[in-house]
Amino acid sequence: MFDSRKILFVCLLPCSVICLTSEEIRAKPGDNVILQCRGPREGVIELLEWSKPDLKSEDYVFYFRDENVYERYQHPLFRGRVELRDPQMKEGDFAVILKNVTIKDSGTYVCYYGNAGSRLHLISNITLTVRDSGS
Ligand SMILES: *[C@@H]1O[C@H](CO)[C@@H](O)[C@H](O)[C@H]1NC(C)=O
Ligand SMILES: *[C@@H]1O[C@H](CO)[C@@H](O)[C@H](O)[C@H]1NC(C)=O
Repeated sequence: MFDSRKILFVCLLPCSVICLTSEEIRAKPGDNVILQCRGPREGVIELLEWSKPDLKSEDYVFYFRDENVYERYQHPLFRGRVELRDPQMKEGDFAVILKNVTIKDSGTYVCYYGNAGSRLHLISNITLTVRDSGS
């Protein structure tokens, strides 16, 4: 599914607590791509947001708050194309699957999480490059 992937985990605090995942992904149009994001293994997840800063939009790639996924806060480009890899988000698995990518999906994706009373933490910063094979 992927031509190559390069993963780098940078620990901000002991890794069991929180890490920043930084990754470069290459894909072809039509692929389904996993955007990795690992949060704390325990505790209540109040807020999870994936965004794509280069959209220059208030809208999100994926927005989860208080046990609900809010499609209305999603950018139209991403509605119906993004789902949690593990809907239970067990063990802090906040990865999402971005389905049927196009060349326009190329760019940087960032994942933030927050739990009760805490500020948002950046936990993933992923660069996706979608290219036709052979080019
Ligand atoms: C994938 O996206 C293309 C347009 O970008 C569309 O034509 C095609 O039907 C989509 N495939 C699926 C399985 O959704
Ligand atoms: C994510 O990584 C890219 C490329 O390294 C960088 O330009 C960008 O500022 C980072 N974004 C955040 C929110 O840290």
